[in-house]
Amino acid sequence: MKKIGILTGGGDCPGLNAAIRAVVRKGIKDYNYKVYGILEGWKGLIDGKIKELDMNSVSGILPRGGTIIGTSRANPFGKNNKGDPERILENIKKFDLYAIATIGGEDTQGVAFKLSEMGVNVVGLPKTIDNDLPGTDYTFGFDTAVNIATEAIDRLHTTAESHNRVMVVEVMGRHTGWIATFAGIAGGADVILIPEKHFDMEEIYELIKKRHKRGRNFSIVVVSEGIKLPVEDKEEGFVLQNTKKDAYGHVMLGGVGSVLAEMIEKGTGFETRCTVLGHTQRGGTPTAYDRVLGTRFGIAAIELIHKGEFGKIVVLRGNKIVPIELKEIMGQYKTVDDYWYDLAKVFFG
Ligand code: F6P
Repeated sequence: MKKIGILTGGGDCPGLNAAIRAVVRKGIKDYNYKVYGILEGWKGLIDGKIKELDMNSVSGILPRGGTIIGTSRANPFGKNNKGDPERILENIKKFDLYAIATIGGEDTQGVAFKLSEMGVNVVGLPKTIDNDLPGTDYTFGFDTAVNIATEAIDRLHTTAESHNRVMVVEVMGRHTGWIATFAGIAGGADVILIPEKHFDMEEIYELIKKRHKRGRNFSIVVVSEGIKLPVEDKEEGFVLQNTKKDAYGHVMLGGVGSVLAEMIEKGTGFETRCTVLGHTQRGGTPTAYDRVLGTRFGIAAIELIHKGEFGKIVVLRGNKIVPIELKEIMGQYKTVDDYWYDLAKVFFG
């Protein structure tokens, strides 16, 4: 009986449990695998912490947010992690794991790729609320985050209108503006600012002023946490940074919205407030779309393991789930293209 490991790495997202459930149920039912949950992402393989997942342990988890096996941003190839890759190889041997299904975004899949180069049998499943993983049309978690952000924008409309205010809504999206763009389009944002697109503050003030001049006395500005605010004399602008970095060297973001709100209030003369949605976008029950996508990825991953096709990741292309090489997605992000931003821009101001 072959033993399969499954792990969830990086930030959690809605739909992880649907993917875990699919891997476990398909793996046990169709291929008689023994499936083990590796606890807290790569940390579990470094520390040797795994637990068996049987049919009962995945019962009732489909609508639950988070991940029943825990996650972390542990990076076995980090500069302070000497010896971790060797520990992982030892534990894989010790637990006799034939293959590992790695559910994660660019960091987790980066580690999976390095391990596959070292001979480990891995198959990736793409997840992240940010939707910035290349190779796939969508990652699961994104749809739920967009729905949460859209609901927040809907709610902010009525209070903005009642108080004649500009509302800045800061959403997640470290490198890309997918959540901001989609939630902005769905929620009818008057301005959307994302890291991929350069913008001029004067233009933003003008858009808002013009809108108020034509009788709309409130505005909604949706902003990605990762934008660079334009500053005079600096071509690059600046990102509001926390000094803390995670294990993959990413600065912890958050807070740019309130700086932007102050700038807008000063630049337009309109009272402005900021709402930071933060981790609410990652919590709670997944949408039906994310449950189905997570399930499809889980089933496809088990099929790949069964066929012995390793070093690959299952992705969504159109309406089909297909495998591609992990190396194809290394070192890049899928950014918001002109099609989406031009569409959003039609409704600015
Ligand atoms: O990777 C997803 C994400 O939610 C980003 O949008 C955000 O910048 C980051 O994770 C936050 O990470 P943490 O939960 O570690 O603060």
